[in-house]
Amino acid sequence: MKNKTVLVTGGAGYIGSHACVELLQAGYKVVVVDNLSNSKPESLSRVQQITGKTLTFYQADIRDKPALTEIFAKESPSAVIHFAGLKAVGESCAQPFLYYHNNVYGTLVLTEVMNNANVKQLIFSSSATVYGESSSPQYSEDFPLGAINPYGRSKAMIEDILRDLSAADKLNPTEFPWKIALLRYFNPIGAHESGMIGEDPNGIPNNLMPYVAQVAIGKLTQLSVFGDDYPTRDGTGIRDYIHVVDLVKGHIKAIAVLDSDKYATGGCNAYNLGAGRGYSVLEIINAFEKVTGKTINYKISPRRSGDLAECFANPELALKELNWKVEKNLDDMVADTWNWQTKNPQGYV
Ligand code: NAD
Ligand code: WQD
Repeated sequence: MKNKTVLVTGGAGYIGSHACVELLQAGYKVVVVDNLSNSKPESLSRVQQITGKTLTFYQADIRDKPALTEIFAKESPSAVIHFAGLKAVGESCAQPFLYYHNNVYGTLVLTEVMNNANVKQLIFSSSATVYGESSSPQYSEDFPLGAINPYGRSKAMIEDILRDLSAADKLNPTEFPWKIALLRYFNPIGAHESGMIGEDPNGIPNNLMPYVAQVAIGKLTQLSVFGDDYPTRDGTGIRDYIHVVDLVKGHIKAIAVLDSDKYATGGCNAYNLGAGRGYSVLEIINAFEKVTGKTINYKISPRRSGDLAECFANPELALKELNWKVEKNLDDMVADTWNWQTKNPQGYV
C-alpha cells in the first residue's frame, strides 16, 4: 500500500478530513479534490499538522471534467474515495435540481474521468437513508431500497449507476473491471481525538449531535426533541451513532479489500457502516450531560416529518468481508465531540 495514491473527493469536509488523516497514517499518498462549497481549507492544514505529513489539494468541482481529467493525468491515483456531495435533507427538498446536479451528475463526470484513466477502484459515501420502509428496525444490505427525499434518492440513483457500471463489465470483459464499495453510513458523529478537526456545520445544525454540542456551549439556547411518543424504550427516536474515526477506518479496510483477490474480477457491493445498536435522543442527551457536566436545556416538540422511530445497522457483512467493526463507544463519541466543540467554538475560523 505504501506510495499508492488515493484521490479523495470532498476531502476537506467533515468525514473526508478524518479519512485523510487515516490514509496518511496508513502510508497512502493523498490527493484531495474539493470545491470548498461546504468546507474550509483550514481543515486540510490541520490534517497535515495532526499527521506531520503533506497532501496535495486541488480546489476544483467534480463536475469540471477538464480539471478532473488533468488532475488524474498528473496524479495517477490507484483508487478514489468519493465523499463530495451535498447532504442536507431539507435543502434537497427545496432545491432538488441542485442535489441531482451536484451529487448524481458530479458522480457521472467523476466515473467517466476514472474510466478514461483506467482508475476503477471506487469507495462511495452512501447512506442508510437509501433504505425504504421495513418491518425491522435493524437494516441489512439486502433490505429493499426506497429513499424518501431528493438527497436520499440522489444516493440511491448513484448506487444504481455504479451497480450498472460494474454489471456491464460482465458483458464486456475488461482487464480493468470496476471494483466498487458502496458504504452505507448510519449516523456519523464525534471528531478526531486531537480536537483539531471535526464537524463544522454552516448556520444552525440540522443533526442532533452538533445541535446538542452548540446548546452545551451556549451558542444555541434550547434543543427541540422531535417527538417523545414513538414506540421506542423512552418514546424518542433511536439511531445508530458511529464515531467518525471508526467510520473512516472502514474505508481504509475497504480499499485493501478492493485491491485483494476477493475483487480480482471486479464487483460492486454495499456494506453497512454502523455499530449495530441504537441510542435514543434522551440517551444522547444524558450521555452528553454525564461527559461534559453541563445541563442540556431541551423541550419536547412535535415529530419531525420523515423521521423513523428506530433505525440501526446490521453490521455483520462489513465484519465478515471487510474485517471491520466499530471500536469506540458512546462516551468516546460524546467526549470527542465536546473536545472539538470547546477547542473550536466558532469552527474553523
Ligand atoms: P461535508 O459537507 O462536510 O463534506 C462534503 C465535501 O464535499 C465538502 O468539503 C464540500 O465542499 C465538497 N463538495 C460538495 N460538492 C462538491 C463538488 N461538486 N465538487 C467538489 N467538492 C464538493 O459532508 P460530510 O458529512 O463529510 O459527508 C461526506 C459524504 O458522506 C457526503 O457524500 C454525504 O452525503 C455522505 N454521508 C454523510 C453523512 C453524515 O451524516 N455526515 C451520512 C451518510 C452519508
Ligand atoms: C437523529 C435523531 C431526530 C435534531 C440524518 C439524515 C440522513 C443522514 C444522517 C446523510 C432523530 C432527533 C434531531 C434535533 C432531535 N445523513 N433530533 N432534535 O435524521 O437520523 O439522519 O443525518 O446521509 O440522511 O436524514 O439524523 O441527527 O438529524 O437525527 O430530536 O434538533 O435526533 O428526530 O430521532 P437522522 P439527525
